[in-house]
Amino acid sequence: MQYLKIEGEAKLSGEVKISGAKNAALPLIALTILSKHSVKITNLPDVTDIKTLITLLSNLGAKTELLNAHEAQIDTNSINSTKANYDIVRKMRASILVLGPLLSRYGHCEVSLPGGCAIGARPIDLHLNALEKMGAKIEIKQGYVVVTAPKGGLKGANISFDKITVTGTENIVMAAALANGTTRLLNAAKEPEVTALCEIINASGVKIEGIGTDELIIHGSGGKLLELEHIQVIPDRIEAGTYLCAGAITNSKITITNCEPKHLGSVLAKFEDMGFGFDINEDKITIKPAKQIKAVEIITTEYPGFPTDMQAQFMAVACVAKGTSVIDERLFENRFMHVSELLRMGAEIKLNGHIATVTGANLTGADVMATDLRASSALVLAALVAKGQTSVHRIYHLDRGYENLEGKLTSLGAKIQRLDEK
Ligand code: EPZ
Repeated sequence: MQYLKIEGEAKLSGEVKISGAKNAALPLIALTILSKHSVKITNLPDVTDIKTLITLLSNLGAKTELLNAHEAQIDTNSINSTKANYDIVRKMRASILVLGPLLSRYGHCEVSLPGGCAIGARPIDLHLNALEKMGAKIEIKQGYVVVTAPKGGLKGANISFDKITVTGTENIVMAAALANGTTRLLNAAKEPEVTALCEIINASGVKIEGIGTDELIIHGSGGKLLELEHIQVIPDRIEAGTYLCAGAITNSKITITNCEPKHLGSVLAKFEDMGFGFDINEDKITIKPAKQIKAVEIITTEYPGFPTDMQAQFMAVACVAKGTSVIDERLFENRFMHVSELLRMGAEIKLNGHIATVTGANLTGADVMATDLRASSALVLAALVAKGQTSVHRIYHLDRGYENLEGKLTSLGAKIQRLDEK
């Protein structure tokens, strides 16, 4: 196991390149299951979740090759199993994304129930109810969900999600792509990663109407595979927001490149509320220091609202703002795992259910433990500004979704080392 040793009171400068989006790449890797051809995927982030899902496809019989850290060639025509086993799925909930495509192409799929994770129960009832409406038979057997499509394949259906679900929307869009007839999906997620998936499917022979809205109409191909040969992954808006938080918490001027500013509207608005300024052009954002970092009010909600995946990082910035911030986490029931660790660094945070009240304070370095991907990045941010040295342990959480975090922060002037636990 490794940990990060971070010197505090950092001042940052320079620029950092944003990687491809993990949460866009994962559904796109699953989408290769529907492709008639071998697919080349470019701008992949070099993170463990991507390798985990590619390994899962390889275990099902697909031919997979990592051409380099950011490109993969995947040919799923050799798939000879539709059972995604527990040892991979337990590592990553997003493995559930193979359910829709496997069912749609092969008429059958067994996926281990993902189980909960640090931030909540993470059920998949919305995914399964929607597939049942498309004619699928669902059974739960020894911790696996076993799904079987009707003889002639899934049928298009009218589906309305009771809650907005990102991977639920992605799963159903991929299931509907090869179904017989039209599927209308209401209350669909509108995250940029969902829109990117729909645009690629729409360009590969399956017409989708309403892309980018909460009502998607998918005209199923009746089993005809997608004409798909190359996929380019969009930039990671959460990684981008995290580095902007590194600039904000150290009150430094830094630039992020290879990003998509239009995916960060609600995040930039909250930075402005806190007193920060920006220079923005097509794929670059420069954050400029605030005269005084001001407290902020945040409610997490689905896109285009403030993203839950940025909540922990903004809480770290709020820990050094002047005044009292209020952060209301509306999506996940337990996404405050970073609070106890921030308290150990001298933060002043009070929790009342899903609402955190944060009063600005001076942070001091400490030994802290990462618990989930975004909580870990919040601890790194706090360590950059704390007085003294911080060690962040269990950083395998970070490696799931941040490519070369210590290398990128070092290039901005941070003093950060990756070391082996004794
Ligand atoms: C996606 O998770 C992201 N992961 C998460 O990012 C992100 O936090 C989340 O969307 C919300 O934006 C990927 O895209 C791989 P949901 P997902 O289904 O799809 C409830 C990160 O840090 N729900 O949109 O699993 C659920 O419990 C990760 O990169 C049901 O009740 O999230 C939650 O309260 C963490 N039943 C809410 O909906 C279901 O069947 C939103 O969950 C499905 C979801």
